[in-house]
Amino acid sequence: MSRTAVMCGIGGWVPPTLVTNADLAARLDTSDEWITTRTGIRQRYVVPPGMSTSDLAVEAGRAALKSADLDSADAVIVATTTPDRTCPATAPTVASRLGLAGVAAFDVAAVCTGFLYALATGAGLVSTGQADRVLVIGADAFSTILDPGDRSTVSVFGDGAGAVVLRPGEATEPGALAGFCLGSDGSLADLITVRAGGSEQRSAGAASPGDEFFSMQGREVFEHAVSKMAVAARTAAERAGWRLDEVDRFVAHQANVRILRAVADQLDLDHSRLVVDLDRVGNTAAASIPLALDHANADGTLRPGDRVVAAAFGGGATWGATTFVWPRLRSI
Ligand code: UT7
Repeated sequence: MSRTAVMCGIGGWVPPTLVTNADLAARLDTSDEWITTRTGIRQRYVVPPGMSTSDLAVEAGRAALKSADLDSADAVIVATTTPDRTCPATAPTVASRLGLAGVAAFDVAAVCTGFLYALATGAGLVSTGQADRVLVIGADAFSTILDPGDRSTVSVFGDGAGAVVLRPGEATEPGALAGFCLGSDGSLADLITVRAGGSEQRSAGAASPGDEFFSMQGREVFEHAVSKMAVAARTAAERAGWRLDEVDRFVAHQANVRILRAVADQLDLDHSRLVVDLDRVGNTAAASIPLALDHANADGTLRPGDRVVAAAFGGGATWGATTFVWPRLRSI
């Protein structure tokens, strides 16, 4: 039997500052009614001053290790678009703060698809025998890169982190990662971007006002998110040998409930199979899928033995999907 990566721990964490739709409506030209009906989001959490992505990642990572009954791992991967600093990567800081100094630690940047890319990378380390225990974290503090006056992004994004632990096992076990369907199209890079701060802008010189903020062409992103996640999810299910009507839970990147429903419609999946926590936490970017898994595991929406398809779409553009049978895991 070949060596396969198996999920054996789960954790999630959101920062303490709650921002409701009413809070946003008090300072921006928006309303609870608009945000709720157009996105499904009712509230989100943001970092207080002084808290950054590594703080979120450490809490989620600690919870995932505890869930796995472990106090160490031999690799730490952090998927993030909001690293503590442009240089160095955030993962070594997270590993060190978890008492894991000395292990392999690196970041993966694929925006809202980042967790699936990191999970595929971690699964590769385990299946090739490079590592025995891998902590894979998705963590983002998008509130630190948003234009506070941009109602279309401030109303959507929240901060948070989610994590899983991988161990070696067999392909037939619950929690085994069956395979990944990952893709990208760099010609769509301008749809989701922060123009300033990178080598392109620094080399060219002065930036235009506002270029330091995150920007998203929402309507176009919406269409790509639906079509790319639907195709990736269908491909991943086919590779696992599952018919779509055999899928118990669909865990898609929590961008907008209208996107989740549109993908489900394309896949002929009943909406009751959607895992949804964006109403409570908003779009937490790389944290979105592991946080949704942790919340659904904790509240019983996800049960051991459930057949799960997970799919994401994000800046790059990037997209991906994977399948697994949900294992028995303890949420902390
Ligand atoms: O995480 C990575 C992937 N991201 C996504 O998948 C996000 C995909 N996009 C979306 O979820 C939606 O496009 C948004 C939620 C971002 C926007 O919703 P929409 O229904 O697509 O609105 P729109 O961008 O087409 O804008 C329609 C109108 C605009 O006003 P005008 O130009 O028609 O006067 C916006 O300015 O809605 C306005 N608008 C708002 N109005 C009140 C945008 N955001 C808000 C808001 N409150 N928060």
